[in-house]
Amino acid sequence: MPETDPTWFKRAILYELYVRAFRDSNDDGHGDLAGVIEKLDYLTWLGVDVIWLLPIYPSPLRDDGYDITDFYDIHSQYGTLDDFRLLVTEAHRRGLKVITDLVLNHTSCDHPWFQSSRSDPQGPQGDWYVWSDDAGKYADTRIIFTDSESSNWTFDSQRRQYYWHRFFAHQPDLNFDNPAVRAEVKKMVRFWLELGIDGFRLDAIPYLFEREGSNNENLPETHAFLKQLRSYLETIHPGAFLLGEVNQWPEDTLEYFGDGRDELPLLFHFPVMPRLFKAVADGRRDAVAWIMKRTPAIPPSCQWVIFLRNHDELTLEMVTAEERSALYQRFAPDPRMRLNLGIRRRLAPLLDNDQRKLKMMNSLLMTLPGTPIIYYGDEIGMGDDIELPDRNGVRTPMQWDESKNAGFSEADILYSPVIDNGSYGFQQINVASQKEDPASLLNWMRRLIAVRRRHPALGGGRFEFLEPANPTILALTQEDETEVVLAIHNLSALPQEVILEAEGQQGKVLRDAFTNELSPAIAGDIRLELEPYGYRWLVIDKNDSGMRG
Ligand code: GLC
Repeated sequence: MPETDPTWFKRAILYELYVRAFRDSNDDGHGDLAGVIEKLDYLTWLGVDVIWLLPIYPSPLRDDGYDITDFYDIHSQYGTLDDFRLLVTEAHRRGLKVITDLVLNHTSCDHPWFQSSRSDPQGPQGDWYVWSDDAGKYADTRIIFTDSESSNWTFDSQRRQYYWHRFFAHQPDLNFDNPAVRAEVKKMVRFWLELGIDGFRLDAIPYLFEREGSNNENLPETHAFLKQLRSYLETIHPGAFLLGEVNQWPEDTLEYFGDGRDELPLLFHFPVMPRLFKAVADGRRDAVAWIMKRTPAIPPSCQWVIFLRNHDELTLEMVTAEERSALYQRFAPDPRMRLNLGIRRRLAPLLDNDQRKLKMMNSLLMTLPGTPIIYYGDEIGMGDDIELPDRNGVRTPMQWDESKNAGFSEADILYSPVIDNGSYGFQQINVASQKEDPASLLNWMRRLIAVRRRHPALGGGRFEFLEPANPTILALTQEDETEVVLAIHNLSALPQEVILEAEGQQGKVLRDAFTNELSPAIAGDIRLELEPYGYRWLVIDKNDSGMRG
């Protein structure tokens, strides 16, 4: 679908969808593509624009599909390539775009390429992975999965050499120095784009190349490769949606935008995320103010992608050791809630299922400078299951209704148990009951999305972080040619007053974006009272002559 506006994605809302967890259409206990098709009307009703599918490729699922054995097919539990084509067609028919996860850095050790590489070092795939006789090589490289791996090297008893892996030992890294590997990636992206998708989320891209004496992240070679990939993509699918998973500081992440045209158009803003939780825990905006100041301007053709939670642990890699321990104490008091350098919990439990905090944080998600992503289930405030290992506790079946298995599946055995007890049990939290209740989180989220859509300045506008005297207030504006949207948040559990300078806006009227209520014309400062964890979106229409009020 050709887009006339090349920066349409700035105003889009993304939905991160785990196919295995969403809807099981054939009752085998695993969600599938046909199940996603059944639920597309729900996603359009909610108002999202782009769905990001977690990996759907054949895989032993030891890392939930990020361990791929065939880049050109669909996992048999999820369906077939025909189902996938149908999903894309049905999504497009409803105006939804589809992106898939593109895992370039590594494969599963069960991939035939790796099996060939280990058994036949001189053979066609002999040099497709990163082999060494010396496990002391690249010693300056950090370990990412600190809870499960003690080295980035694992000895292969067959080839009698070590292979390099930045993630699990069952995920050997591909050797990007090998031109055949780089050519294969091009083949892969072409294959999926020809099936009709709109783009990719590029998994773990800072780690593609290795060079002795470096920390093996963000190397110039990686940028050079991404630039080649982008220019190839421009020839086969101009304007593809390319979202990079770059969990780095903003100044390093910035490099991945290139000159704005020649590398990646979209990148997650990782470091702001834990600071949003810190801000609500402290009842102060400082941490967010600090990172926003450290966030450089980006090329106008590019965009940050903002998220609160995702399918992984809430990573605390980008905070200090002191901040990390405070965040652990506050948000993961039980050691089972911790994983690697992060917290394996969902949004609602992190925020004590407090609707005020949930709304305030989602308001931040929708107003910070960038394109927001909603993680499946967070729109209804789903809980997590810390009894499950690894990140599985935040990947439980979607809770559709009160029927068996939350309406996810009729099977007796599921890929993962449904959350079925306590305040997060599906009997309490599900789509059907929330759809009926006008005061539900789901209906509120739907409204939030609709209101954001009415204000293209949000996401597409010029951003300013305000610093009113009251430190509990997080206020920001986004502005385009037609309007200024002022979003104000009270991070504290007490009512707060906020006073904002309104230079240049005297005589203008503020309209509440949710209620359409108009305030008297601005005279002097803007003064507001906010409820505990309250939020307001106030709009100044630039064409307003200032006669009303
Ligand atoms: C990314 C994914 C994560 C996966 C890892 C290894 O960080 O988000 O789920 O385990 O890559 O592929």
